[in-house]
Amino acid sequence: MPEEYRLILKHADAPGYSNDLECYVKHGGYKALKKALKLKKKKIEGKETVTPQEWIREEVKSSGLRGRGGAGFSCGLKWSFVDRRSGKPIYLICNADESEPGTFKDRQIIYKDPHQLIESMVISAYANDVNLAYIYIRGEFVEGAKILEKALAEARKANYLGKDILGSGYKLDIHVHRGAGAYICGEETGLIESLEGKRAYPRIKPPYFPAVVGLYMCPTIVNNVETLCAVKHIIADGSEAFAKLGTPNNTGTRIVSLSGHVKKPGYYEVEVGKVTIGDLIFHKNFGGGLHEGRELKAIIPGGSSAKVFRAGEKFKLKSKDKKGKLIKKEVDLLNIPYDFDSLMQAGSMSGSGAIIVMDDSTDIVEALSNIAEFYAHESCGQCTPCREGSLWMSKALHRMTHGDGRRADADYLLHIAQNIQGRTICAFGEACAWPVLSFVNKFKDEFEARSAEDEKRKAREVLS
Ligand SMILES: Cc1cc2nc3c(=O)[nH]c(=O)nc-3n(C[C@H](O)[C@H](O)[C@H](O)COP(=O)(O)O)c2cc1C
Ligand code: SF4
Repeated sequence: MPEEYRLILKHADAPGYSNDLECYVKHGGYKALKKALKLKKKKIEGKETVTPQEWIREEVKSSGLRGRGGAGFSCGLKWSFVDRRSGKPIYLICNADESEPGTFKDRQIIYKDPHQLIESMVISAYANDVNLAYIYIRGEFVEGAKILEKALAEARKANYLGKDILGSGYKLDIHVHRGAGAYICGEETGLIESLEGKRAYPRIKPPYFPAVVGLYMCPTIVNNVETLCAVKHIIADGSEAFAKLGTPNNTGTRIVSLSGHVKKPGYYEVEVGKVTIGDLIFHKNFGGGLHEGRELKAIIPGGSSAKVFRAGEKFKLKSKDKKGKLIKKEVDLLNIPYDFDSLMQAGSMSGSGAIIVMDDSTDIVEALSNIAEFYAHESCGQCTPCREGSLWMSKALHRMTHGDGRRADADYLLHIAQNIQGRTICAFGEACAWPVLSFVNKFKDEFEARSAEDEKRKAREVLS
């Protein structure tokens, strides 16, 4: 039976569990940090003797942990890119901006279990020779910032942070930095600019890969809240135990934010790839199905920038079993395992882990117009295709939803979106183009019918 597997949210909703240090320690908190700080030089199979820091980094790499912020990039690999020879300080930034529409998972950790994030950050910072780290939290999370400040003060007092953490000689402090509430502040290089006190204009890569030239032009690691929280469990239980959760290449758990037309919207932590999209929407342990009398129309599987799926779509997927044998199968939409690789093969992505469900009461043009308006508002404006294109798409869709559709609109929207993707400084270009490309291509009949209807009505009005 498909069910939740709570690793990161294990305690968060337990009766009586509070977000203070005493409660966290009572439930085994900071044991993983103690373990990490007591590690001695070790020999890894087939390798030379490594330092405790190298060992932790190796554990994170072999756990298969992939980023939970959007791109699903290997966390261990990202850490391995950090320029450790520059002699410059290395920074760690926790991305708590959580701005992707539909996403509400990181805030659960921050509100209910902030010490888990702090412990994980101290271990991650220790592993990467970081002495100063930041939690960049979006401006609207006023309460979240207060909770983190309180938890950090508790951690400092208890010597989990400071100049000589638990007598190990290791020094670290973590600061909370509140953003001012712009979506682009979640993009890692925009975030870095904002943290430096400037407007959140994303930087061009290359050369500004944060691992080499990040905060204050120093090597910097930017990781999502949920990604960082997994590190504590990898060190506490071992990389093998973590890798046993989930499926090959899609290890561990994911907190899925489920919203839209389901009976039980909410957040659900599951083993990656062990449940399907259909399970998450229809099973009683998750969304519990659609409202009475309704049928499924569309699903956005990974936050509003992920490409939409139309109900009834079928896909050819390839995967590998535990022995590495290639398996090919045709699956319908509801049978796609909820993991990074399957969703990518199906032409979309698991992104920020946010599923938005739309039933047959949804006006698909309205839905896209709503999304496009958001992106037009949030473009930082540096790149012409993104700045102008996002606005043109939003204006055309606004016109369509106000009775002034034109026959050429569907192709016009596709043309603009095609000219944004791949031509911008940051991935916001794709984030605003993909919804348009997928909605229009998959529901072209609805877009065209609506415009044709408008044109007929306007012609009648002219004649009358
Ligand atoms: C427009 C845009 C917005 C983003 N917003 C967020 C966000 O709110 N939170 C987040 O963790 N990552 C966000 N990302 C991804 C980050 O740039 C970065 O890849 C991520 O924080 C890395 O963490 P991870 O490797 O742990 O996933 C965004 C990316 C783009 C292009
Ligand atoms: S793609 Fe858009 S958001 Fe990103 S830098 Fe260019 S204008 Fe700004």
